Amino acid sequence: MKINGTPYRSIWLGDDGWSVRIFDQRRLPWELKIVELKTAEQAASAIKEMWTRGAPLLAMTAAYGLCLGLRENSSDIALDKTYNMLLSTRPTAVNLRWALDEMIKAVKPLAGAARIEAAYARAAALCDEDVEINRRIGEYGLTLIKTLASKNKGRDINILTHCNAGWLATVDYGTATSPVYMAHDEGIPVHVWVDETRPRNQGFLTAYELSQHGVPHTVIADNAGGLLMRQGKVDMCIVGADRVTRNGDVANKIGTYLKALAAQDNNVPFYVALPYTTFDDTLESGDDISIEERDAEEMKTVQGLDNYEELISVKLTTSQAANPAFDITPAHLVSGYITDRGVVGNIRDLYKFAA
Ligand code: MRU
Repeated sequence: MKINGTPYRSIWLGDDGWSVRIFDQRRLPWELKIVELKTAEQAASAIKEMWTRGAPLLAMTAAYGLCLGLRENSSDIALDKTYNMLLSTRPTAVNLRWALDEMIKAVKPLAGAARIEAAYARAAALCDEDVEINRRIGEYGLTLIKTLASKNKGRDINILTHCNAGWLATVDYGTATSPVYMAHDEGIPVHVWVDETRPRNQGFLTAYELSQHGVPHTVIADNAGGLLMRQGKVDMCIVGADRVTRNGDVANKIGTYLKALAAQDNNVPFYVALPYTTFDDTLESGDDISIEERDAEEMKTVQGLDNYEELISVKLTTSQAANPAFDITPAHLVSGYITDRGVVGNIRDLYKFAA
């Protein structure tokens, strides 16, 4: 990804070779602030407080968080404690557990300096793998966009997305956005409808990314998608996922389910883009997924610039509020899963990939 022409990943090591750098995504798109993480506790807070977010990226932050923890204390007891602290940060994205388990496999047989070295090597490899996975998701998703483009020569292909499943949610490329970037780079005319995604407005992160890459897009209120689909202004939906269960149910940002319902009613294909690390073969259905309930204050406030270009938070209500952060889209509403191993329409095929 490029920000103002400079290439970045969304997580990287500092020049010292051990401290971790991320963007404070709470301040985007208004301010590009890079923060330094030096302890496992800081990594855990960055995930919990959503400085860094998105299923694959929060998992990578946890992987490096484990490295930071080992630098402080590389004993088995400390390793278990750090693992549990990082695992408890956010409950819904299964990538978190996957990455931490990968780290444990790599470091458990080792001790001392060798353990720390192996941890950093594994975390770096996981990040590289994430980039490659997302590139492949992009290539497979591109075939779907190409098919639509060939049927609709000369006009924009309109793609609706929800939340941010872009490069800010992964190490690079994104999942849902990866096919869009590739289509744009190939000269296919694409336009993205970007759901605002209240209450935390991750849609503005998506809009920021798309602007940086020069992809035409329009931000819409979360409630606008149904009308646009009915009016024939959406060719396809592509969303990300935080966890996909054995039967193909999808946990993703709150509001995804309503888009899937509207898509089905209007014959708009609804695709879920995901890496294999988002499959959860331990759960049968979406009913078994733990849905994160976040602080109601997020619902009661909104952040933006005031007239002096200062970043401020504004209160919207003093009423009681609820803030479930994810919902479940049942498998029967999903037209296909765009994975790093191909596009599948059927969960049995998808599950075969995971095995
Ligand atoms: O609460 P967030 O911002 O972490 O939620 C992010 C999403 O729901 C994304 O769609 C999902 O993690 C997929 S990211 C490739």
